[in-house]
Amino acid sequence: MGSEVVDYREQIEAVREAFEREFERFARFREEGGAGGLALAEAESLLRELGDVRTRHTAKKSALAGLMKLIGRVPADERAAFGQTVQRLGQEIAAGLDEAQAGLNARLAALKRERERVDVTLPGRRPRRGHAHPINIVRQRLEDIFVSMGYAVEDGPEVENDFYNFTALNIPELHPARSPQDTFYTTGGLALRSQTSTVQIHAMQKRRPPLRVVAPGRVFRRDTPDATHNPMFFQLEGLLVDRGIHMGHLKGTVTEFLRRLFGSGVRTRFRPSFFPFTEPSAEFDFTCFKCGGAGCRLCKGSGWIEMGGSGMVHPSVLRAVGIDPEEFSGFAFGFGIDRMCGLMYELDDIRLLFENDVRFLEQFD
Ligand code: DAH
Repeated sequence: MGSEVVDYREQIEAVREAFEREFERFARFREEGGAGGLALAEAESLLRELGDVRTRHTAKKSALAGLMKLIGRVPADERAAFGQTVQRLGQEIAAGLDEAQAGLNARLAALKRERERVDVTLPGRRPRRGHAHPINIVRQRLEDIFVSMGYAVEDGPEVENDFYNFTALNIPELHPARSPQDTFYTTGGLALRSQTSTVQIHAMQKRRPPLRVVAPGRVFRRDTPDATHNPMFFQLEGLLVDRGIHMGHLKGTVTEFLRRLFGSGVRTRFRPSFFPFTEPSAEFDFTCFKCGGAGCRLCKGSGWIEMGGSGMVHPSVLRAVGIDPEEFSGFAFGFGIDRMCGLMYELDDIRLLFENDVRFLEQFD
């Protein structure tokens, strides 16, 4: 080989032809609109194939790059022309590839634009609106009243240990309220709280007296669901501890609260009862908000609606959280929010509250 003269024109032509043969199917994309009609996936795969053609025909090991190596075998006076011809061929190949690639890219961009176009004249899709749950509606109303009476809203854990659920509430080990029949125990000796009274203990540990708190929250009991029971329901607990607090404060507070909720005509009555964490203890009723006490279906003809438990905080409970019962006294009360909700909205079956059917839930305001 070495100085042997070659017909470089022939070789250059061969390279051009090899390229053109492969490029033929892409050539039309060089023209404006040449890629029209192509689908997105087609355009994408053609672009990839075009990339392969570019590599095959312009990379370091391509036939085009190989042409330059012939220069040593080209007669000296033709070398300049040879170089220019090879260079021009390279430019033509690159231009063809670039233009076809641009045509395909333009098609892709147009397709994507089309896909993302927003037709502002189409009717909007109305977002489905939720609705506050009736229990939350009632809870918020209760909270608002108590906040207006100077109470803070307190939160407590739903899983409790022995101390908060029982011991501190003056419920000793063998007390029937501890029975596994009454609540749900975890294997680790914890229990789902069976009443919001547990928050009394947390509140007194956290805030020292004087204090006023209400604690709405979820509680759990081993109850079989029926029209008036659920194994999970909501209560609202109230607690006030200060100096010189007596039963009159309890009665006045509960009565005022019920009047703000149902109107100034409401009367209350307290019946002696027993709760381990209060002494004395009382259950309280109020005159039916529907018939005003005359007797109706809602109050089952009695004129009274039973509402909850209450009493003066037991000295043992105060002592359990290090408050001196000689210095401080307090009252507490608790009632069911679901039950209140069922009465206010005259629900036949409180299980409906947890079926989460928006058509049912959104009826209540
Ligand atoms: N925790 C009681 C229950 O679930 C209700 C109750 C009674 C709460 C008396 C109190 C109270 O705060 O003083 O039946």
